Formats: sequence, C-alpha cells, structure tokens
Amino acid sequence: MEFKHYSVLLEETIDNLNIKPDGIYVDGTLGGGGHSLQICKRLGEGGRLIGIDQDSAAIAAAGERLKDYKDKVTIVRSNYANMKTVLKDLGIEKVDGIVLDLGVSSFQLDTPERGFTYRSEDAPLDMRMDDRQTLTAREIVNNYSERELFRIIKDYGEDRFAQNIAKHICQAREKKPIETTGELNDIIRASIPQKVQKTGGHPSKRTYQAIRIELNHELDVLRDNLDDMIELLNDDGRFCIITFHSLEDRIVKSAFKKNEDPCTCPRNFPVCVCGNKSKGKVISRKPILPSEKELEENSRSKSAKLRVFEKHQAQ
Ligand SMILES: C[S@@+](CC[C@H](N)C(=O)[O-])C[C@H]1O[C@@H](n2cnc3c(N)ncnc32)[C@H](O)[C@@H]1O
Repeated sequence: MEFKHYSVLLEETIDNLNIKPDGIYVDGTLGGGGHSLQICKRLGEGGRLIGIDQDSAAIAAAGERLKDYKDKVTIVRSNYANMKTVLKDLGIEKVDGIVLDLGVSSFQLDTPERGFTYRSEDAPLDMRMDDRQTLTAREIVNNYSERELFRIIKDYGEDRFAQNIAKHICQAREKKPIETTGELNDIIRASIPQKVQKTGGHPSKRTYQAIRIELNHELDVLRDNLDDMIELLNDDGRFCIITFHSLEDRIVKSAFKKNEDPCTCPRNFPVCVCGNKSKGKVISRKPILPSEKELEENSRSKSAKLRVFEKHQAQ
C-alpha cells in the first residue's frame, strides 16, 4: 500500500523553523517525510536532518521519499523520547531546529489492519504505533477495569458518555472477548443516545482517540520530554509543534510558557531570587492555524494547531 499523508501546516512550519542551510534539524515524528523533505530542500552542503519515528512502515516510506538527500539524512527507528541519546550516538550535542507533528499519520489511519480506524468494521484491535510493543488495544479493551476504562475515555477522549461506554464494554466482554473494531463500534453505539449520534460525528471517535493515547503513552511522552528537547536547541534554534487536540495543545502551550518565564518568585518581589532563567521566547502567542485553502483540501487539518518556541541561552 502506498504511504499517503497530507503534511499538515507544512508551509507555516517550514517558515517558522528559520532553516539555516548548514544547520542540524530533527524531525521527531518523521511519518511519510513530508516536513522532512521540505527541510532537506533548504539545506546546503553542511546541513543535516535526523528523522525519528517509532513505526517501521513510516521509516520505510520516509527512506524512499528522502532518498535524493541521503548524504544529509539519518533515519532512526525510535521514540522521540530518546532524542538526546539518538543524537549523542550520532555525535550531535545541539541542533538548530526540532519539528514534532503529533498523532497518527493518514497512512496509519488508512491501513485497517493497524486497528486505528473506527471506519473499518472487521479490523483487529491493535493501534500500536510501534509494533515491537506487546500491549495492544485488545488488551486494554478486554483487561482494563471498568474504572480504568472510564478514566481513559473521560480524560483522553473527553467523551461525556465515558461511564456508559466503560460499563457496556465490561458487560460485553463477560460473554466473549472483544476482538474487532466492528464489535467495539457496536458496543459504543449502544452506549450513546441515538439523538446524539445523529449530530455529534462518529460515535467511536473519542473512545478510539482515548485508547490510542493510553496505549502509545502519547501525552506522557510529550509532557515528559519537552523541556529536554528545548535543552537540545542551539541559541536561536526553533521548536515547532503541531497538535491535533486540546489535551496535546495545553501541554505544549504550558511547557513553552514555563520555559519562557520559569520564575517562581512572588509577583511583588522587586528582583528575582528563585534563580530560574528563561530558556527563550514563545514566537506564536496565539497558535498558528491552517489556512482556508488547507482546510478545504484536507479535513484532518481541522483541529491542527502549530506553536513555536525560540531558544535563547540563559544570560
Ligand atoms: C502525523 S504523522 C507525521 C507526518 C509527517 N510530518 C509527514 O509530513 O509525513 C506522525 C508520525 O509520528 C509518529 N510518532 C508519533 N508519536 C511518536 C513518538 N513518540 N516517537 C516517534 N514517533 C512517533 C507516528 O508513528 C507517525 O508516523
């Protein structure tokens, strides 16, 4: 199957990276290499791109897409949580820009066997971005307690029917394990009032998002590694992050703000005594949103937001 992915907020991200031809850039969510290709096109002889993805299909697709630039590109199958080690192994300490385009690729969504899509009715419940991981969505759906299922569907799916969905999942699996996307979809449909289903988009959307986030530790990985990635940037280096839902965006917004102004002194102190120094400035006071044209071309861009941070060495 061909790797198809519309790169979201592509121009805006590339513009905001302020690419230096001899700079070193990291794409921590390489996917089909759409953002990386545009970075490579702007690199000169001394420039370098390190592309990281945890999905073997993405690694293969990006390798093909970036083959004309192979003297500048290093592709590593890993989690972006390991960025510092990946770079260290390549003899790199600091970089000039980092891109994260979070979430799943269209290719992952459009490959039913991967189990990411509620649009397929007979796919296995998988949803792993990294197939070296043993835990799958099937284990979450069949083994998590009703309380745990409620928590993830409420917190990560923000579904107001989370309690009902968790209850119905547990009742259904008492009869037989839940194996396919179709079986899970039927349970979710039975948990949401008909009236709401007619207006609120696909009834399974929020639950699938919740299971995917839990399984791939998406929010924890983001929250736990943003400060370290900012540390990796050279002076004036830029960090561009594209998010697809409010949970991710909130984490990015607050981490960028905290790195800009980490001072914890009471507001009425005449001088700072906490000693926490700013790491740079937020370039995007408001998130950058897709243009009308992009929204017309790609419905997946609808919820996308780009935030940009610029590193300045502490004085
Ligand atoms: C939205 S796609 C990126 C698309 C890419 N920017 C392009 O234009 O082709 C997100 C990719 O990030 C990968 N990914 C998500 N979380 C990751 C993580 N923590 N570490 C490494 N890769 C991750 C997914 O496997 C997926 O291939």
